[in-house]
Amino acid sequence: MDYNSMLKTAKENMEKCHVCPVCDGRACAGKVPGPGGKGSGSSAIRNYSWWREHVKIHMDVVTESFEPEIYTELFGCSLSMPILPAPIGMIALNFSDKLDEYTYAKAVIEGAAKAGTLAFTGGGAVDECYFDPIRAIEELGVPAVPTLKPWRMELVEERIKFAEQKGATAIAMDIDSAGLPHSSASAEPMVAKSADDIKKMCSMTKLPFVVKGVMTAKSARAAADAGAYAIVVSNHGGRVLDEGLATGEVLAEIKQVVGNRSKILIDGGIRTGADVYKALALGADVVLIGRPCAVAAFGGGAEGVKIYLEKIAAELKDVMKMTGTPTIKSINPETIKIIK
Ligand SMILES: Cc1cc2nc3c(=O)[nH]c(=O)nc-3n(C[C@H](O)[C@H](O)[C@H](O)COP(=O)(O)O)c2cc1C
Repeated sequence: MDYNSMLKTAKENMEKCHVCPVCDGRACAGKVPGPGGKGSGSSAIRNYSWWREHVKIHMDVVTESFEPEIYTELFGCSLSMPILPAPIGMIALNFSDKLDEYTYAKAVIEGAAKAGTLAFTGGGAVDECYFDPIRAIEELGVPAVPTLKPWRMELVEERIKFAEQKGATAIAMDIDSAGLPHSSASAEPMVAKSADDIKKMCSMTKLPFVVKGVMTAKSARAAADAGAYAIVVSNHGGRVLDEGLATGEVLAEIKQVVGNRSKILIDGGIRTGADVYKALALGADVVLIGRPCAVAAFGGGAEGVKIYLEKIAAELKDVMKMTGTPTIKSINPETIKIIK
């Protein structure tokens, strides 16, 4: 299988996603449930377009010759690349019933592991969306991170313990999920989480705790102060609030308040190695990619996910060669230019 045949198969398999040549949030605007962004779809579209319109990369090739190194570390695991599949849930509702929660999770976890990295798994309105991916994590026995919904605290504690027993590498929570149009159909209500709740959740587990859905310096500071191992700068792919800012545009100010206290992950509209480079230059440690990883899983299962991740990693290396940045650590804000 090659990249193009993977896309062709994905197109046949994905009822609700058009597998567009560019995954920019336009063709699926408003399709939630479905793969799109909420309302007009403007937040998802802005996630994508901001990287392109507002960040450019300085080419700088007066340098010694080098082979770029893109390995990094997260949750105590060494990763071959700073690129991970984002959590995606409610697979049949959002894409098609060609894959269920379990087979989808298995494909991304295994594909990521084969590429030398690790995956986050998703959740949803029904319990299987949380438990089926954890079954895949247990069976495969490779690093992966389940994502809790912002349920009531007793249930959160119970489900953290469950994930720990089954071998999760870390635990995440998408604190923005209550904004999903279909969240009201959830068997368990989703509720806002305070700084104090985050502190309690961090102390419920010895595993690294990840707060996903941070879009302001204020929330980022609260999560870091509460002891979050990592935050994910994310607006859920524009699925929870219309007319929001792009994730890329709030990244630098979040890095400023968080510093090195918590790892900074980001997702939203990252589609190429150049986009990964821009995110790292603005302060992210690692990026997550959502919809294109779903396309890869529908197009080629674990092998499709591996092919896709390796393609983005190769593009990142190519950019590093042209910017005189031999390692992930050497990628810095001076190598890019923000266009107002
Ligand atoms: C269909 C769909 C389902 C998603 N399900 C989840 C989920 O269960 N948990 C979660 O934390 N994020 C979920 N997300 C959000 C992604 O993790 C990610 O934040 C988002 O897709 C942004 O990245 P992208 O622009 O690369 O798609 C979902 C996104 C989509 C499109």
